[in-house]
Amino acid sequence: MNREKLALAAGCAAFVAAVATAQAPPATTAPAPPPFKNLQVFPKDISRPDLINNMKGFAQALGVRCTHCHVGTEGQPPTFDFASDAKPEKATARKMLAMVHRINGQDFGVTDFSNVKVTCFTCHRGSVKPLTAPPPPEPAPAAPAPKAS
Ligand code: HEC
Ligand code: HEC
Repeated sequence: MNREKLALAAGCAAFVAAVATAQAPPATTAPAPPPFKNLQVFPKDISRPDLINNMKGFAQALGVRCTHCHVGTEGQPPTFDFASDAKPEKATARKMLAMVHRINGQDFGVTDFSNVKVTCFTCHRGSVKPLTAPPPPEPAPAAPAPKAS
């Protein structure tokens, strides 16, 4: 997959495209490595905009801020340490990435990873805890009070 296609894959779907790129043969002219220190799933030469778009997709899909997975205090950027693996949520997210990639490729036969079937949002829908059953129905509106005669 080329870089243009990768850039086109917007939001949460883009991460799978990025993972697919990791398995592509290396480009002949390697661009200067961006300053990411601890990528284990995304390709090491992923551009900063692509990486950040994926991260925004994660945050939106789970309904969380960056610091749900990353060390740091929200609103205080000097405290952020994105490369750190200290938070277990980051490790979980790496496993989820691998799972989503596997589901798309093996179960849905996706070959064009800029057009995936399953994303983080498919299950999470803005929550850290996906539902296993439909939510209970809304309580029925109260019956109108009988008219006083
Ligand atoms: C659901 C968990 C999760 C959320 C939310 C999240 N990230 Fe990440 N982030 C990860 C994971 C997992 C990695 C490592 C990916 C890998 O190993 O290839 C990562 C890696 C990074 C890196 C690369 C660090 C390095 O040097 O190796 C940066 C920068 C980053 N995230 C920024 C952000 C920003 C900014 C946000 C908020 C918009 C954010 N992340 C939200 C899970 C998350
Ligand atoms: C097939 C459904 C499914 C998909 C797709 C999925 N998840 Fe999850 N995820 C779950 C379930 C279920 C849990 C809760 C597991 C539990 O309760 O032990 C969970 C839990 C998590 C957690 C821990 C929640 C917490 O309390 O902080 C993180 C982080 C997470 N997922 C990230 C991701 C990311 C990032 C993606 C996309 C790469 C993703 N998930 C895609 C089903 C999914």
